[in-house]
Amino acid sequence: MAKGFFISKIVGIVGIFVGVAALSTIIALSVVYSQERSKNNQVQPTDGGETTTNPITTTPTPPNDPWYQYRLPKTLVPDHYNVTLWPRLKPVSTDFYIFTGDSVVEFECVEETDLILIHSNKLNHTTLSDGKIARLTAVNSASVPSIKSSWLQTETQYLVLQLDGKLVKGQRYHLYTEFTGELADDLGGFYRSVYQENGVEKVIATTQMQATDARKAFPCFDEPALKAYFHITLLHDLGTVALSNGKEIETTTINKEGEEVLKTVFERTEKMSTYLLAFIVSDYDHINSTIDGVEIRIYARKPAIAAGEGDYALNITGPILKFFEEYYNSSYPLPKSDQIAIPDFNAGAMENWGLITYREARLLYDKDFSSNSNKQSIATIIAHELAHMWFGNLVTLRWWNDLWLNEGFASYVEYLGADKAEPTWNVKDLIVLSDVHRVFAVDALATSHPLSSNEEDIIKPAQISELFDAISYSKGASVLRMLSDFLTEEIFTKGLQSYLKEFAFGNTVYTDLWKHLQMAVNASAVDLPSSVNDIMNTWVLQMGFPVVTINTASGLVSQKHFLLDPDSEVTAPSPFNYEWIVPIKWMKTGTVQKPTWLLAKSETINDMKVTEASEWVLANLDVVGYYRVNYDDSNWNKLLNALTTNHGAIPVINRAQLVDDAFNLARAKIIPTVQALQTTVYLKNEMEYMPWKSALNNLDFFYLMFDRSEVYGPMQDYLKNQVVPLFEHYKGITDNWSKVPTGHMDQ
Ligand SMILES: *[C@@H]1O[C@H](CO)[C@@H](O)[C@H](O)[C@H]1NC(C)=O
Ligand SMILES: *[C@@H]1O[C@H](CO)[C@@H](O)[C@H](O)[C@H]1NC(C)=O
Ligand SMILES: *[C@@H]1O[C@H](CO)[C@@H](O)[C@H](O)[C@H]1NC(C)=O
Ligand SMILES: *[C@@H]1O[C@H](CO)[C@@H](O)[C@H](O)[C@H]1NC(C)=O
Ligand SMILES: *[C@@H]1O[C@H](CO)[C@@H](O)[C@H](O)[C@H]1NC(C)=O
Ligand SMILES: *[C@@H]1O[C@H](CO)[C@@H](O)[C@H](O)[C@H]1NC(C)=O
Ligand SMILES: *[C@@H]1O[C@H](CO)[C@@H](O)[C@H](O)[C@H]1NC(C)=O
Ligand SMILES: [Zn+2]
Repeated sequence: MAKGFFISKIVGIVGIFVGVAALSTIIALSVVYSQERSKNNQVQPTDGGETTTNPITTTPTPPNDPWYQYRLPKTLVPDHYNVTLWPRLKPVSTDFYIFTGDSVVEFECVEETDLILIHSNKLNHTTLSDGKIARLTAVNSASVPSIKSSWLQTETQYLVLQLDGKLVKGQRYHLYTEFTGELADDLGGFYRSVYQENGVEKVIATTQMQATDARKAFPCFDEPALKAYFHITLLHDLGTVALSNGKEIETTTINKEGEEVLKTVFERTEKMSTYLLAFIVSDYDHINSTIDGVEIRIYARKPAIAAGEGDYALNITGPILKFFEEYYNSSYPLPKSDQIAIPDFNAGAMENWGLITYREARLLYDKDFSSNSNKQSIATIIAHELAHMWFGNLVTLRWWNDLWLNEGFASYVEYLGADKAEPTWNVKDLIVLSDVHRVFAVDALATSHPLSSNEEDIIKPAQISELFDAISYSKGASVLRMLSDFLTEEIFTKGLQSYLKEFAFGNTVYTDLWKHLQMAVNASAVDLPSSVNDIMNTWVLQMGFPVVTINTASGLVSQKHFLLDPDSEVTAPSPFNYEWIVPIKWMKTGTVQKPTWLLAKSETINDMKVTEASEWVLANLDVVGYYRVNYDDSNWNKLLNALTTNHGAIPVINRAQLVDDAFNLARAKIIPTVQALQTTVYLKNEMEYMPWKSALNNLDFFYLMFDRSEVYGPMQDYLKNQVVPLFEHYKGITDNWSKVPTGHMDQ
């Protein structure tokens, strides 16, 4: 699933005025800042981003019966399901819409039991001719115990069937049920989405199963490791189109309960998890193309397709799909790839295998009205979802506690896929603003949590939902980018490819990936100070990240858990005492040096000692490392000087970093606020998007703080002065604001 990230607004042009002396303004600002701050001793994330909560909530101990447990017993394993569903797009009474269905699941008994637990939530089960709500038969007409009692356990979302005898180990059974559910407008399970077209209200039946709502559409063993094959059939009104994960085999007209309806039968799916299923009935139109035998279709409301709003998505899907086939060294395993825009949709998009659902704004591009940042979010989100077709769908994490690996991985490689579709954009750089800096704000709080959770702590649907946060997505993406960088992309993809080969159509835990990366490292010349597992554990099993402090006079390099609020107390214990194994890429006076590692709390790295007055050190090149950097005063001054006199000597991402690190170090009271504000002095020479965006993100806080204070006027004058050259630059490259510049970042 992809979050609803919004790419930040364009750099604002503040106005044209002549500023006052920069330094005195900066000093006045920092004085008032510290006054305001002591009045108002409260720290908030810089990004206005989400805050995180600890996913572990305590529960009273439930009774011991299996139907009070949120996890299924390990007694039954499904092989395949045959499901028929009939959504009614007209209400049966005011605002009450339903679907009906029947389902048979073939499962194997792997451990003797007299109890069947299968997930079922908010479904009304029909009493069958024998007076029971389910029918159990054995494959090969073996004898079968009968159902003694049955009920719905609503809290744990089970259909419970107690039998009067044991199911036999190794024997296969069929369980048949009929049911009715509400097609509610609740965005979960099988639900309805409503929109207006030419003044007429239209209803779509669609699905969102992740994480635990497949059980709201039909009874199923609704855990990601219980993969099975699905034969899906949909009944739907004449004039509508039905879609599912598999390709349509045939559509016929049948008479059902006195009504003429269409019956669409779909090809059997691959072996897959329930949370990746999708069923959609609409009167949508589509456009299509074929790439190496895989049909690509984009579905949307008829007027949107007619206006060409699906064209951009269709244009880029083929190249991105090809890119991932090569990246993963694995062919796309399905005959088709459908993507569909849904008017009412909760997440940004959902990676249902073969039928990806999107919010309309995340798939449809209107060349007259959409901005370039809309276009970028379409390219990255399509890449994110297509990346999941392998990483997540073909190979699936065994349980939700490892969600961060699934989402973090897709959130990292979405930039690689989008870069393939739009190679001129430099979109890969933007992960630093959109993910690394964004999640720094959250992960620097004492209330953050580690990427990895214990399987036993994540059992209830609400606990699973809480994992879909900035830590899983953005920190996951940031540490995987760091890993890929220190392994080299070649070794990273080699390990990834053998991981996907070994576990195709199966399930894993995150250490399985580490093992395959280690195998690739072992077979290569890459030299690591420790195993992949030991290095990554320090980033995965403890919350937060370090600030690395480099003293260029002595060469002493040290690390400390970075906390935005220095007075906050960290109560959560860490297996590594809040120390990390830190890869350091760095440069000296504009020249890239051999990468190194910080392996202890502090260490002397002689190369980082500078002897000449003109020499400076800059660490964490391109912010590939998940940490902040601080220096001795003398080196800070040399960096500020380098920014002012020749900012081109410092890579653009690091210019954005120096600003962001300085402001955050100041908020954490590690460096004076004056020093942070001084990173804005050079901005009058800066014409690039990323450093400005980084400065604006941080100055927003000052704007809020100084509104109605005596320094507000001087601050505005100062910033107006800084922004004038930028304004003039853009005036020039846009021919006096008459044409759109070509560069993506310029736009
Ligand atoms: C499900 O449908 C498939 C295809 O029609 C059929 O081969 C299979 O026997 C069915 N399974 C059950 C349990 O009815
Ligand atoms: C399920 O049964 C309950 C109780 O009879 C009823 O209130 C509800 O409307 C039913 N739901 C559907 C979808 O038929
Ligand atoms: C698009 O779909 C139509 C109808 O299914 C099909 O005839 C046509 O070959 C498809 N075009 C491409 C380029 O795949
Ligand atoms: C899609 O590709 C075609 C052919 O290259 C091109 O003419 C068209 O402008 C593209 N559409 C969009 C929205 O990018
Ligand atoms: C995987 O890599 C091998 C060796 O480079 C190549 O021959 C093969 O075509 C690749 N397969 C896919 C699906 O990319
Ligand atoms: C990698 O090499 C090390 C040292 O030879 C060895 O201990 C380890 O088992 C190897 N790991 C894998 C996954 O092959
Ligand atoms: C922009 O406008 C100024 C005066 O308003 C004019 O001198 C200059 O030539 C114009 N530049 C372009 C590129 O049109
Ligand atoms: Zn995702």
